[in-house]
Amino acid sequence: MFRVEGETAADWWEVEALFDLCFAPGREALSSYRLRDGIDPVDGLSFTARDPQEILAGAIRHWPVLVGGHAVLLLGPVAVHPTHQGEGLGAVLIQESLARGATLGWKRVMLVGDRPYYARYGFDVLAGVEMPPPTNPERVLGADLVPGSWTGVSGPVERWPAERWRMTGA
Ligand SMILES: CC(C)(COP(=O)(O)OP(=O)(O)OC[C@H]1O[C@@H](n2cnc3c(N)ncnc32)[C@H](O)[C@@H]1OP(=O)(O)O)[C@@H](O)C(=O)NCCC(=O)NCCS
Repeated sequence: MFRVEGETAADWWEVEALFDLCFAPGREALSSYRLRDGIDPVDGLSFTARDPQEILAGAIRHWPVLVGGHAVLLLGPVAVHPTHQGEGLGAVLIQESLARGATLGWKRVMLVGDRPYYARYGFDVLAGVEMPPPTNPERVLGADLVPGSWTGVSGPVERWPAERWRMTGA
């Protein structure tokens, strides 16, 4: 029913409009956006989902961040248009992009979100990983893309350094 494909440059503003629709006003004031400012999303991990009429129904992007010097995928934003929520599209976007991230060499992923939703994808609270304030620590969640990859990884979440941006998640 939906066609999922890599986001192109031509999709950018349409995806932004979908995020504006799906999130509370002021989404870009969130601390997670300070980790994204001026940094491109990870190549190959931004996807759109369109219905048979080509209308955008969902989208996902990921950014690179560092935790304790280790490369981490920051999942999101991810959103599904209100008329299509609950149809499994969020699951498709999340699972397909995380599988792709693993094949690209990323070992671990984090996000700020609702544990009751993300637990189904293996996310749990990341004790010892600190997002810039104000962020509720119970919403700072992580999952392994390679088993055990979060073990021993802690500290503040930091912006991806410009000189490392082309590196993979190794
Ligand atoms: C969160 C979101 C991406 C999920 O996409 P979706 O296509 O609706 O999700 P799915 O159809 O794969 O899964 C639906 C299930 O997730 C549950 N769910 C959705 N959001 C949830 C939340 N915040 N907390 C707990 N459960 C949630 C639904 O109740 C439903 O449960 P069920 O499977 O038991 O019926 C979508 O609801 C959305 O865009 N929300 C607004 C933007 C947003 O909050 N993005 C995430 C930011 S962290």
